[in-house]
Amino acid sequence: MKIGSEIFTESSAPVGKWKKSCDSAKGKYRLQTMEVNTHDWYTITTASLGSAATLKYLTIAGVIYLIVKYLVIPLDWTKEMDESGYSNVPGTGYRRLNQIDKVRRNRKIGDIPPVYPNGWFMLAESHQIKKNTPLQVTALGENFALFRGADGQCHILHAYCPHLGANMAIGGRIVGDCIECPFHKWQFNGYDGKCTHIPYSDKVPKFAEVKRYRSLEVNDMIFVWYHAEDEEPTWVPDEIPEIASGKYFYRGRNEFKINAHIQEIPENGSDVWHFNALHSTSVIFGSDIAANNSDKKFFNHEWESTWEPSTDPAMRHIGVSKLLHHVKVFGFVLGKLDIDIRQMGPGYVELKFWTPLGRMVITQTVTPIEPMIQKVVHRVYAPWTMALYATLMIIGESIMVERDIMVWNNKKYLERPLLVKEDKALAKYRRWFSQFYSEHSPTYSTTKKSLEW
Ligand code: FES
Ligand SMILES: [Fe+2]
Repeated sequence: MKIGSEIFTESSAPVGKWKKSCDSAKGKYRLQTMEVNTHDWYTITTASLGSAATLKYLTIAGVIYLIVKYLVIPLDWTKEMDESGYSNVPGTGYRRLNQIDKVRRNRKIGDIPPVYPNGWFMLAESHQIKKNTPLQVTALGENFALFRGADGQCHILHAYCPHLGANMAIGGRIVGDCIECPFHKWQFNGYDGKCTHIPYSDKVPKFAEVKRYRSLEVNDMIFVWYHAEDEEPTWVPDEIPEIASGKYFYRGRNEFKINAHIQEIPENGSDVWHFNALHSTSVIFGSDIAANNSDKKFFNHEWESTWEPSTDPAMRHIGVSKLLHHVKVFGFVLGKLDIDIRQMGPGYVELKFWTPLGRMVITQTVTPIEPMIQKVVHRVYAPWTMALYATLMIIGESIMVERDIMVWNNKKYLERPLLVKEDKALAKYRRWFSQFYSEHSPTYSTTKKSLEW
């Protein structure tokens, strides 16, 4: 209420006016009323006290909300395909979706390598596999049925039942270590894919089985081994001791669907010159590189990076990168990060951060959903003392990744890029990545045929 404004009772009759007076003894201003009868004074005083108390409780509630939101609940920054990398496409709703579709159709993808390289790919995060409920996941040109058996082991089977083709992950039931098909209740063991039970038949044919995929649960994620020649794995993603021991806590994740070939995404790490071009402008200016492509040197990020394939013959699947990052305001260094990065195979990256507040770790997975659609997930772990820092890191990293996505969603893959000698890490990366393709790796044209319907 403004000083000097009229005061109204419930009957809306004016009963007095506010005036400001000075309490010289306390050196403070306070508010008084004039010409107010006792009943109205009581009402007004109670209302004033009530609003002060309300303000206090609202402030406390606000602080609790912020603590819970940023220090307790892990952040989830999930973006659908139209929500990142297409901020230059105007419009809203269906009109915008149609525009994005047009951009996708008009885009030249180039002579891309085979679309599904050999390696471990994350199909689900551990918490997504609920007890007694199978999960259907589409990736790598396949539909998978994921489920957790009675002993807690996570299994991955081909989703379609060999009996009459029902999708066992849709309405299937978990019985011990088996998944039971909803259509006629045949049961298949998660460890070997063999049919163990047909409710209306005395005999189970020996050949009754469904394809079983090798699975691995590590760092709170479930990976599938994919190999075009059906070869067994020669390596596995490393377990991160700080996650396994519970020393670091899960602080949140981001998730993006990206229109690009899988090789383009980890190639970013070896593209040492793109950091100071694309990621120099401060995160506070957002992710739209079309609207934000000028240097803002008063508040910026500076990067130094290297990328090398592992020299250990037993670790051929690993690429090692080092990233040094400074945040600068008017030329003064405000923050510094050292990041040790290990790329393991085509679909998994481990990033260890050394920050002024301590250490933390981020895992990155890239899973091909379709030949030109990649699901990228970052999961962040840190000690509790760095909870807020980790939350800010997720926000900052997400904005930076969205800048890359805007490039990836629109770029063409160049089989023979025009490189200068300073780009040599890129050439090394491409040679290194080629080890994950084999004779029968699916190509864009072969997979497109199977997607047509
Ligand atoms: S289709 Fe699965 S049991 Fe018949
Ligand atoms: Fe990048």
